[in-house]
Amino acid sequence: MIALWVKSFHIISVVTWFAALFYLPRLYVYHAMAEDAPSRERFKVMERKLYRGIMNPSAVVAVGLGVLLIVLQPFWLEQGWLHVKILLVAALVGYHWYCGRLLRAFAEDRNTRSHVWYRWFNELPVIVLIAVVLLVELKPWA
Ligand code: HEM
Repeated sequence: MIALWVKSFHIISVVTWFAALFYLPRLYVYHAMAEDAPSRERFKVMERKLYRGIMNPSAVVAVGLGVLLIVLQPFWLEQGWLHVKILLVAALVGYHWYCGRLLRAFAEDRNTRSHVWYRWFNELPVIVLIAVVLLVELKPWA
């Protein structure tokens, strides 16, 4: 029963994490296209608040509750799909961290990348989301 509560909040935090993982690079697309200083300053505030206020806390809760699910039900660790999922989550944490580096570059007006680059960058978490949901639901190598 407690595991079902934990799983519910795990899914809720995954949803809010992905909302930010999709929206922050989208803000970078528009920020990279912005030509006037007031627009750039507004994007800086939006990006910082999204990263610190939603993306970071959601990631901590999603990963923390994922780990708690394994502590409550250690048999999950015997399943192959979970090992692949953990690798993908590690890649996602790397993507999250890299978003933070890009945030700092924009904040200091050091961005050198084009809006087209950010459009492709924006697609990477989509691939991880599809792969993780298929792993969790189809449970291959269980
Ligand atoms: C290190 C981080 C994570 C760990 C250790 C972890 C672990 C787990 C475990 C043990 C379950 C229970 C599986 C079940 O009841 O069938 C679960 C459920 C789930 N996880 Fe994670 N998780 C992590 C991060 C994520 C991320 C980043 C996503 C999304 C991309 C995600 C998506 C889901 C979903 C959708 C479920 C619900 C499965 C269902 O009941 O239908 N998890 N997670």
